[in-house]
Order: sequence, then C-alpha cells, then structure tokens
Amino acid sequence: MEAKRIKICEMKDVVGQRAEVAGWLYHARAGGKVQFLMVRDGTGLAQAIFEKTESNEELFKDVKHLGQESSLIIRGEVREDERSVGGYEMAVDDVEIVHKTEGYPITPKSHGSDFLLRHRHLHLRSQRQWAIARIRHTVIDAIRTYFNSNGFTLVDTPIFSPAAGEGEQNLFQVDYFGEEIGLAQTGQLYLESAALSLGKVYCFGPTFRAEKSKTRRHLTEFWMVEPEMAYIDFEELLHVAETFVTSIAQAVLHDRKVELEILQRDVAALEKIQGPFERLSYSDAVDLLHSDKVKDYLGNQLESKTQESHDLENQIKQWEEEKETAKKQWQKDKLDNQIAEAREQLGELREQIENIPKHLELAQNFQWGKDLGGSDETIIASMFDKPVFVHRYPKEVKAFYMKPDPDDPRVVLNVDCLAPEGYGEIIGGSMREENYDALLGRVNDHNYNVEDYQWYLDLRKYGSVPHGGFGLGVERTVAWMCGIKHVRETIAYPRMMGKIYP
Ligand code: 4AD
Ligand code: MG
Repeated sequence: MEAKRIKICEMKDVVGQRAEVAGWLYHARAGGKVQFLMVRDGTGLAQAIFEKTESNEELFKDVKHLGQESSLIIRGEVREDERSVGGYEMAVDDVEIVHKTEGYPITPKSHGSDFLLRHRHLHLRSQRQWAIARIRHTVIDAIRTYFNSNGFTLVDTPIFSPAAGEGEQNLFQVDYFGEEIGLAQTGQLYLESAALSLGKVYCFGPTFRAEKSKTRRHLTEFWMVEPEMAYIDFEELLHVAETFVTSIAQAVLHDRKVELEILQRDVAALEKIQGPFERLSYSDAVDLLHSDKVKDYLGNQLESKTQESHDLENQIKQWEEEKETAKKQWQKDKLDNQIAEAREQLGELREQIENIPKHLELAQNFQWGKDLGGSDETIIASMFDKPVFVHRYPKEVKAFYMKPDPDDPRVVLNVDCLAPEGYGEIIGGSMREENYDALLGRVNDHNYNVEDYQWYLDLRKYGSVPHGGFGLGVERTVAWMCGIKHVRETIAYPRMMGKIYP
C-alpha cells in the first residue's frame, strides 16, 4: 500500500491515513510483542508503535537491536493519541533501516557540560538543543522582519578591521599580509557612514571579542545586529529599541510554543515584555544599588536560596535511599540521573548563596563614576519584571564616540537595555558625537591613532547630522527567550576561551 512521505509536524493532517516518516531513532522501549520507538525527523518527535506479527518476526528482531540515532524510515497509519508526544502516533507496519548505529555516545543518562561541548556535533540532535536552535531561528527571523518592514536597509560591514571599534583590550589581532589588524568588534563605525547615505540601516553579522573571562554571558564569537539612524534623537532611539525587543518576544511566543514547553520556559515572564520599558538614569541606578530595597531583596534571596538548598539536600538523600532498595536497573538509572542533576543544581545554588553577600557589598559600596558590573546589572534588572533602560552613564567608562548629554556633560546619551530574570545587558547603544572637534578630542583622549580614524572623522566634516544606534547580542537574547542559563547553548558551535573543538 502506498505511503505518502510526510514530516512529523504534518501528522495532524493525515490522521487515519498510511504515511511514512524518514528520521532517526531517538529512544526505544521494547517488550516481547511490541516496541515503542521515539522517532525524530527535524520537525518534531513522534511515538511509533511496532507490533510483532507472524509475518514480521525477522524485522521485529532487527529493529529491536537498533541503537539510538540509527536512521530509519517508518511506515504505518497515523493515529490521534492525546497521551503521545505531539498528540499523534504511528501504528508502524514497516520499517526500512537506513543506517544502523552502535554505541552513540550521548545516552539518556546525564553527562557533564564539558563532555557535551566536546560532542557538540552530536549533541545538536537532542530535544533541548533542537528547541533552542528553532528559537534562535525565530529570534533572527524576527530581527530581520522588524528592520526590513520599518524602512531599514541592510548593509554588510567588514570583519577585517584596521582599527578597534570598541576598545583595544579585547581586540582579536590577525596578520593581514604582514600588517597587524583586528577582527570586527562592531560594525557600527562603518554603519554610521552608511546611515549618512541611506538614512536607516542595519548590519548583522559575527562579532569577535577576545574575552578572557569565562562567564555565562560571554562568547569570543557572537552575532550582533546593529541599527543606525540619521536624524533621530535619544527618545526616538529608545522607542526603536523598545518596539524591536518587544517584537522579538512576540514572535517567539507566537511561533515557538512547543519549543518553549520543551525548555519548560515560564511563558508568563515573556508575556510581560511590552513597552514602555522601565527607564532609569545611571545616577538613579546607583541610588537604587545603595537603597534598602536592594538590601532587603538580597536578604530575602539569601534566605529563600538557603532554604531551597536544604530541601534539595534532603531530596537527594531520599533518592539515594530509594536507589538502595530499587529492584529494577531502569529505576536505579532514573534515580542516578535525578541525583546527578540535583547535585549540579545544588552546586549552583551554593555558589549563588556564597556570592550574595559579596554582591551586596559591591552594590552598597558602588561609587558614582564606575562602570556597572555584571552583578550590579543583575540586581538592577531583578528589581523589575520587564526590561530596563539604564541611560546616561559617566563619559569616562563609555566608548569614545558617544555624545555627551548637553544638560550634563559628565554623562553621555547612551543606553543599556537590561533583561529581567538575571539576564542583564542585551543591548548597548548611544547617540554619536557628531561634532568634528569634539570627536577628534575624544580620539586623542583615548590615545588612538588619529590617522586610523580619519575616515570616521570625515563623516563629521561632510553633512554631519544627529544620529545614533545600538547593538543587540543574539546569543544573550536567545538565552533569555529560552530561559537557559548559559549562552554556550544558544549557538551551534560556541567559541569561548579554551573552547575551540569541534
Ligand atoms: O554594548 P556593546 O559592546 O555595544 C557595541 O558594540 C556598540 N558598537 C553597538 C552599537 O551601538 N551599534 O555590545 C552590544 C551587545 C551587548 O549588549 C551584548 O548583548 C552583546 O552585544 N555582546 C556580547 N554577547 C556575547 N558575548 C560577548 N562577549 C558580548 N559582548 C557584547
Ligand atoms: Mg555594552
């Protein structure tokens, strides 16, 4: 009987019909008479039920011996079944084995993150990584849609750069036919020239920074999208950032329900991402860090996390006892997994508990004039349940091209957008210094080589106008949308200090 090739995501359209799905064996559970095969095909995961009959004994045996990640084509009738993943399943009557796999290294047991990163080429097939990759796709799609439908022109800026765009400390140096140059830390300076041609422009590409710190927010290679607009003011810039971020969250909520559920994302938190965002000047942020509100908040955090860690310790003890008396191997394996995961969680909790007093001290002793640190940002963002714009930082801690506030020249017209739930900075942006002499002064203050920046200074000689823009980091945004801790899972092949394989 004819079987139409379908994708798992199309099963709902062929209920009651015979169809075939080409995919990979994700997981299998076999009894003497029936096998439950979990098959994935790139569009989803589905359960397939394969019953032994008089005529299929050989095949039944072959399938039973298939290892995880064997590739196969299954054929059979598609049925509706509420209990099945995705709500549909296949009653399999034929299996075509495409490739037998043995000893797939990533088993359902829990592996450490180092192991998984070294097996990233295979780990990408896991449900969790699949869900993250699809959310990343939607984030990027929403980014392009926003700019393309709001009058922006895409301009591709170079990656080989003769001069630093965002400070020299984290510039990756490469040898360019004997000349020392850098890899792009931003496309912004080039984009400013394009904005004076096209008005509203954006660039979107890989960005490189030699970050020597190993944090959950930093990669050495990441993707940044940067819009730049001529003839705008600071308020308009904030408005663009606000509607832009909101549009990303809306797209993820709309298009990625299944994936958010796989990741157990708290969707209510994403639904709160709506303008107007909170606005806080840097000076107000400093006052907030010094306030009792922050002190009380961190005190409560310490208390609840300590309680949480005690509960977790007890839970682990209980599971260990259950394991002693468990009879079946699968029960022991399951408990082992739970215990391993709980231990990892406990380790993180203990680290957080240890850090809270340190972070409180940093916050309370924070001095006006310093740059906000990661823990300060986290605290500020935690005080609100939607994104916060922190604006007007001291000139000294920010990039040379930022325009001072005419009402208070100690600070610049810049903005960092901090994401809630502890995610921190996802956007950095500003109005740009448009006056030739003032910009030249800034280049000199920073001891940059004026020759390197002459072309950039030229933009202030010929038809200079007020302009500004910002950059949004894709990986931090994806981590936030997914509700996952570390940016290393948000890109197929994360690049960090000490991590370059595969
Ligand atoms: O705040 P940043 O450094 O801003 C700029 O580069 C400006 N030139 C942008 C502009 O105005 N056109 O970086 C912007 C964003 C950060 O908010 C963060 O989301 C991301 O880029 N980012 C990183 N993401 C991952 N790993 C890193 N090492 C990152 N550094 C910055
Ligand atoms: Mg920044």
